[in-house]
Amino acid sequence: MVEEKKSAPPSEKLQGDKKESGNSAPKKVVRRKPSSIKSKAKRPAAKEKVVETVTEEKKELKAEKKVVTDVLQTKKTDRPLTEIQPKQLARQHERKKSFTSVEVKATTKYIYGLKGKRPIVGLTAYDAIMSKLVSKAGVDFILVGDSVGTTLLGYETTIPVTIDDMVHHTAAVKRGLPGCLVVSDLPFGEASFSFDRLLDSARRLMQCGADAVKIEGGKDVADDIEKLVATGIPVMGHIGLLPQTVKAIGGYRKFGSDRVEADSIYTDAICLEEAGCFAIIAEMVEGELAAELTKQILPPLVGIGSGEQCDGQILVTHDLLGLTPSPLPSFVNPCATLGLDGLNALQGYVKKIRSAKLKR
Ligand code: KIV
Repeated sequence: MVEEKKSAPPSEKLQGDKKESGNSAPKKVVRRKPSSIKSKAKRPAAKEKVVETVTEEKKELKAEKKVVTDVLQTKKTDRPLTEIQPKQLARQHERKKSFTSVEVKATTKYIYGLKGKRPIVGLTAYDAIMSKLVSKAGVDFILVGDSVGTTLLGYETTIPVTIDDMVHHTAAVKRGLPGCLVVSDLPFGEASFSFDRLLDSARRLMQCGADAVKIEGGKDVADDIEKLVATGIPVMGHIGLLPQTVKAIGGYRKFGSDRVEADSIYTDAICLEEAGCFAIIAEMVEGELAAELTKQILPPLVGIGSGEQCDGQILVTHDLLGLTPSPLPSFVNPCATLGLDGLNALQGYVKKIRSAKLKR
C-alpha cells in the first residue's frame, strides 16, 4: 500500500498560513492509488535492480570496446568500404543499441514506478525518423504532442491541430518502432464536447499506435479522465500552462506564482491523481510549487519549464536540437544546432551544383 501523505498544500508552505488570508483551503480529497496502477509489491528489490544494471553496463562497455577495436582493425586493413559495410553496419547498430544504458519498458506502470528511483525523461516526436532517434537515445517516453502544429505544421498555436493530424503523426511515430511508451495528445476541443466524443478520439489514438493519451486540464476534466481510465485508456495529465487555452489566457506565462493560482494547480494535480493519471506534466509551473507538488502527489510530475526538482523533464525535441527557427522558450538550452548546420550543408550543396560546368 502507498502511504497517505499529510503535508499541507504547497501554497501554505510557500506563502504562510492560509487562515490568516481568509482563503478557503483546496477541496479535501481522499487519496487513493490510481486505478490503472496495480501494486508496488511486485517491483524487483532495489538491490537486485542495481546488480542487474551494473552487469548490463559492464556488458555494454565490453561491447563498445570491441566495436572500437574492430573499427580500428578495419581501418588498418584498408579494405574498400563496400567489402566491410555489412559487418560494420551490424556492429554500429549494436553499438548504438548500447547507448541506452538503462532498460526502458513501454508501459505506464513502469513510468509510474520510476518515481523516486531516477529522473524520467520524455521527448516529443512526430514522425518515424525522430521516433527512432529519441528512442535510441534512451528516453522513457515519446510524446506525440500537439506541438506538431507549431513545430512542423507552421501554425502559430496548437489550436488548429485536429484529431486527424494527431492520428497521422502518432501512426508515423509508431512505424519508427520506438522501444518506449508512446503518449499521444488529445488536441484542442476534443475533451470539451462530450464524453463519447472524447472516448472516440482517444480510441482512434490508441488504435493507431498510442500506448496512452495526454489531456490538458485538471479538476474540470478529471471526471472524464477517470471514465477513460476505467475503459482501459491510460491517461497522462497536463497542468500549469495549457497551450490549448492560449487565446483565453492571452499568452504564454509562468503559473502558480500567487496563492490562488498555486492552490488551483494543487487541486488540479490531486484531482488528476484521483482520476488515475499515471503521470502528470507540469508546464511553466513556478519552481518551488512544482517541487512541492512533486513531493505531494503519487504519480510522477514531469516538468517543462517548471524547475529541476520534478520527477523528470520533457522538452520539444526540435527545440532541443536547434531545429526550431522561431525564438525558443527561455527554459530551453539547445544541445545542438541542427537547423544552422543543415542550412550550411544545403547552401554548400546548392553552391556546388551551381558552380559545376554544364555538360551538354
Ligand atoms: O504538445 C507538446 O509538445 C506538449 C509538451 C510541450 C509538454 O504538450
